[in-house]
Amino acid sequence: MRAVITGTGMAVPDTVLTNADLSTIMDTDDEWIFSRTGVRQRRLADPGVGSSDLAMIAGRAAIDDAGLLANQVDALITATMTPDFVAPGIGALVQHGLGLGQIPAVDIRQQCSGFLYGLDLADALISSNRANTVLVVGADVHAGFYPWGPRNPDGSLIPADASQREINNRHRSWSVLFGDGAGAMIVRRGVDPSGGVVASQLFTDGTQFDLIAVPGLGFRNQPYADHDQIDRGLHWPVMDGGGLYRQAVRLMPDAVRGVCKQAGVEVDDIDVVVAHQANERILEGVRRQLGLAAVKVPSNIASYGNTTSATLPILYHELKEAGRVKPGTLVCFTAFGAGSHWGALLYREPA
Ligand code: ACO
Repeated sequence: MRAVITGTGMAVPDTVLTNADLSTIMDTDDEWIFSRTGVRQRRLADPGVGSSDLAMIAGRAAIDDAGLLANQVDALITATMTPDFVAPGIGALVQHGLGLGQIPAVDIRQQCSGFLYGLDLADALISSNRANTVLVVGADVHAGFYPWGPRNPDGSLIPADASQREINNRHRSWSVLFGDGAGAMIVRRGVDPSGGVVASQLFTDGTQFDLIAVPGLGFRNQPYADHDQIDRGLHWPVMDGGGLYRQAVRLMPDAVRGVCKQAGVEVDDIDVVVAHQANERILEGVRRQLGLAAVKVPSNIASYGNTTSATLPILYHELKEAGRVKPGTLVCFTAFGAGSHWGALLYREPA
């Protein structure tokens, strides 16, 4: 019997950062950001708040939504690109914080595809009788990735002086895209054979490793962190925006078609595609490639930006809350992320 989603939850920080707020610290405006990315605002974690903190709130909500107690979860999968510490990963922190007991906790490093990989792994654990109830969480706090300088104690931005503005401008093409958040699902063994995970395909192409990457602070360096790397700015992400766009709009639709073929259904049969919220332009490309209307490939990027590993579970949670996901609904999850890692997973809501 394959896996079914029985509970969902999400968590975003309270601080809302609009495009107008960003224009106080860099040369940008709402028109530039919205027209190229679809983002109007994002949430920003306060200093001291890590991915594990948001993961725990979302995870707790998913456990409650499924009507379970924490001790009924028998495996935990956490996905993040922005762990609280270089080591260990956030799995151990979330396991302890949620009081899950000494169950296995797995950390996934697949960036924007992390949650998709986690969902597939949960299905594999359930299908192979290694677990009955898996908590899958995607959480990212990008706030530490921004080169924006200090913030006020309440988390609000301090308008940048000329030299800080110049630094912020150098990183503005990627730093306006991201936002902080977490989403979670409880995945359990299904009882209805017509529902659950129907098909899944995952891919990796390491030749595209540098489409979006953090070039410094890795263990090829001895020591792994030093002033030289910081001075050269190697701790900030670098992104080949055009290359990423071209790969994402081709490979997500390919993967969607692949799982449809595997399951013997047509792309038109899909009721809703829950696609990684990378950028509204990428979502438009995915819709065009698949010949699907915007209503079938929904977007919430205007409100949250790109929350990396959290986009899929947050969007699915919101669609569920809005009544868009009902018994029998055919959902296709798809993501593309740094690595490159991508794929799709077809899921039928149980009756
Ligand atoms: N505000 C105002 N101007 C800006 C901004 C900004 N935020 N950012 C860049 N600019 C300026 C640049 O300085 C440049 O000016 P110049 O021509 O005078 O030098 C001009 O705008 C164009 O800059 P580009 O970096 O070439 O911006 P581009 O038009 O490529 O748009 C964008 C950037 C929207 C991010 C684009 O690269 C894109 O769509 N990329 C797709 C990749 C993506 O969405 N990644 C998401 C994260 S990865 C993932 O989820 C898998």
